[in-house]
Amino acid sequence: MSEILIEQINQTLHLRLNRPEKKNAITQAMYATLANNLNSAAGDFAVRSVVISGEGKAFTAGNDIMDFMNEEITMSSPVFHFLKAIHGFPKPLIAAVQGNAVGIGTTMLMHCDLVYAAPDTIFSMPFVTLGLVPEAGSSLLFPRLVGHAKASEIFLTGRSFGADEGLDMGLINSVEVEPLTKALAVAEIIADQPPSAVLNTKALLKSGSHIAVENVMLAEGELFRIALQSDETQGAFMKFMTSRKKD
Ligand code: COA
Repeated sequence: MSEILIEQINQTLHLRLNRPEKKNAITQAMYATLANNLNSAAGDFAVRSVVISGEGKAFTAGNDIMDFMNEEITMSSPVFHFLKAIHGFPKPLIAAVQGNAVGIGTTMLMHCDLVYAAPDTIFSMPFVTLGLVPEAGSSLLFPRLVGHAKASEIFLTGRSFGADEGLDMGLINSVEVEPLTKALAVAEIIADQPPSAVLNTKALLKSGSHIAVENVMLAEGELFRIALQSDETQGAFMKFMTSRKKD
């Protein structure tokens, strides 16, 4: 069974992370599939919007830690192709999340146009705790959303937050018992709008920060790659993997 399920539902492309036994932790192969599908959807007239979701109890546990320990990450790695693809995706990108949304599971939402979250969602960006730095443009997008003080508190302490706080922040549109049903329904409502107006409106909404986000993503990427090799990060990853083996 594929680790990314791809389904066209009417005018919506649904990309579903499908690795529930690993809490949908995202491997480089999964990033490559996501990036390829987003890039094709961008030029496909039959696709009016894309919904991203996760199978099972968690949306995603973030980057696959084994991948990060075993593979050298460069700026040409699939994770960066994925980040470029979500940043530049011209059509509405809608996320449906539940359970754990760790690391990129939270930061990718800042590139989505609409986000629906189940009441049990736990957002977390434990980059500093892992010896890393924020990624996916979140060091610019998150303080812009919540203000410098709150962004600093969340990034520097590594604390997680729930769906209600995510709603207060404006990270999500609403808390939904069935976030995927809601996301697919809204995607179809948008699909019935005049497509050029949808594309142009999204472009206008993003235009103020597009280049700034691209630049910060490059800076974050360099620092993230260096941090991945550090003793702090390798130690934190090793601790996680060893603790799971003992369970
Ligand atoms: N990379 C690789 N494997 C992961 C993973 C990750 N990011 N997150 C979870 N897994 C694996 C676990 O090793 C475990 O595998 P196993 O059954 O073969 O031992 C399986 O997924 C289930 O995870 P588990 O930790 O037992 O689930 P949980 O419900 O107790 O906790 C999380 C869920 C998400 C809170 C916890 O798995 C976690 O903290 N994961 C790491 C998150 C992280 O640091 N991501 C990197 C951000 S840059």
